[in-house]
Amino acid sequence: MLDKAKGLATDQVFLDLEDSVAPLAKADARKNIVAALNEGGYGDKIRTVRVNDWTTSWTYRDVVEVVENAGRNLDCIMLPKVQNAGQIDALDLLLTQIERTMGLEVGRIGIEAQIENAAGLNNVNDIAAASPRIETIIFGPADFMASINMKTLVVGEQPPGYTEGDAYHYILMRILMAARANNKAAIDGPYLQVRDPDGYRRVSERSAALGFDGKWVLHPDQIPIANEVFSPRQEDYDHAELILDAYDYYTSADGGARGAVMLGDEMIDEASRKMALVVSSKGRAAGMQRTQSFEPPQG
Ligand code: GLV
Ligand code: MG
Repeated sequence: MLDKAKGLATDQVFLDLEDSVAPLAKADARKNIVAALNEGGYGDKIRTVRVNDWTTSWTYRDVVEVVENAGRNLDCIMLPKVQNAGQIDALDLLLTQIERTMGLEVGRIGIEAQIENAAGLNNVNDIAAASPRIETIIFGPADFMASINMKTLVVGEQPPGYTEGDAYHYILMRILMAARANNKAAIDGPYLQVRDPDGYRRVSERSAALGFDGKWVLHPDQIPIANEVFSPRQEDYDHAELILDAYDYYTSADGGARGAVMLGDEMIDEASRKMALVVSSKGRAAGMQRTQSFEPPQG
């Protein structure tokens, strides 16, 4: 898996020391991860290692062993089951000491915080603001569902009996608000039914529609779906670029220095430009090409 991940069309890869590694295998897993990071080959993917959470006895050794031995080849540490800002402070301080000791650039290694329980969600704003190292806030649905006693075993799907809307809406929105208020990425977690591409698509579309930036993939088959769902549709990307060009033109002296104008049947103004910028940025980041261009009116 460590090797295979190198060639996959993902933006990021995370190497796990937490829940996918049995307690007796943790020590070997640290060594495997250090070797894989130092061997390289991950291209421009963000390289993240998920350590164990602070309530275990493994966290400090995970961080020390991985960062001391592979700190130059690592971009982020993912901290699971974060409950409060103090847990981010603790990781930040530990990283800073290791970076100083090893002669690494202080502050380069980022932190990804997984929100996986009620305490974490209650404190998510403080967690997102706790350190400049924080890069992403991640929803961990499996642990979250367990921690609040949700009455289901199927991660990401609506719990049977809940028929009034989306059981995850409140959680997703709180995470998204904390991320946006602090200028961090918001990432949706795993979908475990890896042989159900339709289910993966359905659940991804939910968080993508709200504004999340991406979702975990557990299997190569989930990758093209995630890349599609979290990119704009071609027609939306084209429309966004058109709005940006039109707004640019109409607000200029040549275009009449106007702030609110008609583009086809739609009135556009500064708020339209901001919405268009969101869609256009996602499209550009995904390498999309526009298929229409804006023509200023003649005469
Ligand atoms: C991921 O770690 C999850 O618990 O969903
Ligand atoms: Mg988890």
